[in-house]
Amino acid sequence: MDFDSLTLDAARTRDGIKWAHAAPDVIPAWVADMDFPTPDAVVDAVTRRLKTDLGYPAWLDIPNCPPLAEAFAERMETRYGWHADPGHVRPYTDVNQALQVLLDVMTSPGDAVATHVPAYDPFLTTITGMGRRLLPIPVAADGTFQLPAEPAPVVLLVNPHNPSGRCFTRAELEAVAGYAERHGSLVIADEIHAELTYAHARHIPFATILPGRTVTLTSASKAFNMGGLRCAVAHLGSKAVRDALGGRPPHVYGAPGVLGVEATIAAWRDGGPWLEEVLTVLDRNRRMVAGRLPSRIGHRTPEATYLAWLDVGVPDAAGFLLREARVKLNPGPMYGGADTCVRLNFATSAPILEEILTRIGAAMERRPTAA
Ligand SMILES: Cc1ncc(COP(=O)(O)O)c(C=O)c1O
Repeated sequence: MDFDSLTLDAARTRDGIKWAHAAPDVIPAWVADMDFPTPDAVVDAVTRRLKTDLGYPAWLDIPNCPPLAEAFAERMETRYGWHADPGHVRPYTDVNQALQVLLDVMTSPGDAVATHVPAYDPFLTTITGMGRRLLPIPVAADGTFQLPAEPAPVVLLVNPHNPSGRCFTRAELEAVAGYAERHGSLVIADEIHAELTYAHARHIPFATILPGRTVTLTSASKAFNMGGLRCAVAHLGSKAVRDALGGRPPHVYGAPGVLGVEATIAAWRDGGPWLEEVLTVLDRNRRMVAGRLPSRIGHRTPEATYLAWLDVGVPDAAGFLLREARVKLNPGPMYGGADTCVRLNFATSAPILEEILTRIGAAMERRPTAA
């Protein structure tokens, strides 16, 4: 498949959130969508479903959505050797919805939720919007972190981490597990970026470390570039969570649609070759970013994901780069980070990424270094 033929003119005809709102001279590199074609396996599965039966699916009233649960368990086994229990799977429309459901049933207003900061922004708004208290676990510029002394009933672990691109090591995950055991915390492990881990790093599902205290959240939406299809999975390793959710009426949280479920199963079962190609392209792109950024910009090459966290060293860095480079990046403060920082999405074709990096380089050159 051709991942590099997309030109700026062609990209501007895309009508997703990333390109639709971009001014004609601005290159958007913000929201976590990839500018890549849909995997053939997904196109085929969705087309097949469209042409056969769009009625209520056979799994609609079964709590774990068996076809999805089995595809998930198979995937975890083959990728990570984790024996996930299909009976403990619950389908959701997206990961943030699943997180809100879990916070709703397992915590009360005022409870602390510990999470690495900078953090994926909708999680910050979920925590505060639900009246829970954010207990930050600050991620330093070198990617390391110290766990807080204060207990939290919930640890929201995003691994691999958005926006830092860290793929946490076993030792780091064991430290999180130790914290959860000491304080009796539930660990909600969002592993949506796991399949985008580069060769030298290794993703370890948190549920293999602390099975009984973990709920794993994931979706094929990031790795297979289909965020619009709305299908996610929660694996409820914690019995307390299974019991709490079991007490709720079955349809209170809705259910994903058939197309999202079919696409997810197809991506997990048959999307392997596409994913391999994408990882090669992204690996090249992350090296381009590392090699082409001016040395004044602080940057750690990510171990996973197509997101780069940059410390531009300029106040209101996102505003500066929008004005001076005509590149739209997400501002650091959105993630609870410094305003000198931005998040760059490098999942685009080589010519577009070249242009983004050229524009950033030129804008930095025009700006004198502080004395
Ligand atoms: C860490 C993380 N979790 C969850 C999501 C949301 O994914 P979805 O809306 O496909 O469930 C994203 C999207 O970028 C993400 O980066």
